[in-house]
Amino acid sequence: MKTKRLLIAGCLAAFIMPMSVLAGNVSAGKEKSAVCAACHGQTGQSVSPDFPNLGGQHADYLYRALLDYKAGHRKNPIMAAQVESLSKTDMADLAAYFAAQSGLSVKR
Ligand code: HEC
Repeated sequence: MKTKRLLIAGCLAAFIMPMSVLAGNVSAGKEKSAVCAACHGQTGQSVSPDFPNLGGQHADYLYRALLDYKAGHRKNPIMAAQVESLSKTDMADLAAYFAAQSGLSVKR
């Protein structure tokens, strides 16, 4: 029974920990997002169907995607180059900024 309890505690920790490191700053993210706007649009409404919309996505989803590009778990040459110089703080700020934007889609 002890093993089961440990397992549950482990799962909870794994779920909560990535959330707790994420405390992005929206206005700092806005400043850092200038480079992203070329493809993803200033408010996360992308300029072409080739680029995903980031506006209104959950911050933890965006943050995880950036971490995965950085770690090479998610492979895309364009995004790998984008995250190369980003710190975890940068990524959390960017995630917070895009999450705070409208998720409404616009006509292209
Ligand atoms: C040159 C164009 C370009 C620039 C600049 C760019 N991206 Fe991307 N981004 C892409 C493409 C293309 C994809 C889709 C890649 C894939 O299929 O995994 C993507 C995917 C993403 C995703 C995953 C979205 C999802 O729904 O899974 C995130 C998050 C992201 N970009 C954030 C950023 C941030 C933050 C910046 C600025 C630091 C940035 N991108 C700059 C082209 C770009």
